Amino acid sequence: MKQITFASFKGGAGKTTAVMAICSTLVANGKRVALIDADENAPLSDWREAATAAGTWSDLAHVYEADDLRSFEGAFEDASSRSFDYAIIDTRGGGSELNNACMINTHAVIIPSALTTLDMTAALSTFEHTIELLQTMDMDIPVALLIQRVPVGKLTVSQKQDLAALAELPRCETILYSRDAFAALGKRGMLHLTYAQIVADSVKRISASHVATAMKEAQSLTQDILEALGDA
Ligand SMILES: Nc1ncnc2c1ncn2[C@@H]1O[C@H](COP(=O)(O)OP(=O)(O)OP(=O)(O)O)[C@@H](O)[C@H]1O
Ligand SMILES: [Mg+2]
Repeated sequence: MKQITFASFKGGAGKTTAVMAICSTLVANGKRVALIDADENAPLSDWREAATAAGTWSDLAHVYEADDLRSFEGAFEDASSRSFDYAIIDTRGGGSELNNACMINTHAVIIPSALTTLDMTAALSTFEHTIELLQTMDMDIPVALLIQRVPVGKLTVSQKQDLAALAELPRCETILYSRDAFAALGKRGMLHLTYAQIVADSVKRISASHVATAMKEAQSLTQDILEALGDA
């Protein structure tokens, strides 16, 4: 089982959304995914509930609530023994002992950031913190930024400059754009199952291409991460 951790000092950076998008892609490809919800707000348990109600949940994914170190260890042990292909760890915004544990019990750390000064500054300090922590543990694993919520239209000059500045750091090649299909993920459920429902519905079919675009982006991001893990 390979683990991927999403972390950021800033709340609302886009961690949970990226986790849901990647989980959807892995499940669509037949992988078994342990979702480790290391956030006391339990966004992934909420996701499972909403998706189950909407008929867009797959039992290939299993959510573990792990909002303290003990439950994190328990989740980890159980997930390892049940031979999941991947564990995706979603953390709470900020720094904590639990977040540090999530950063060192993993094979890759992904740090989402939107194109705002506030987000980028927080992403940079998360990056530095992660590298220092891994060095202390004598670990060498990929740590990469993920540019999240990029406006679909033309970028402003300052957004272009921000994008260029972030390109100096290791980052996922794929960018996640600001899309309704991503914003709605938490309520609608897994992307590919939502898509299957929409194309089967003559009224909703009109938005199928939007969901398809989001699925392609999620697939491309998943591919970047699997490459970083040496699994592609
Ligand atoms: N690519 C995207 N397109 C559109 N909306 C997005 C995108 N990514 C995130 N969002 C929205 O931004 C908000 C914050 O995203 P999210 O909950 O994923 O962040 P987070 O880092 O998990 O936050 P927290 O630190 O509170 O856990 C949510 O309302 C989400 O729907
Ligand atoms: Mg979150």
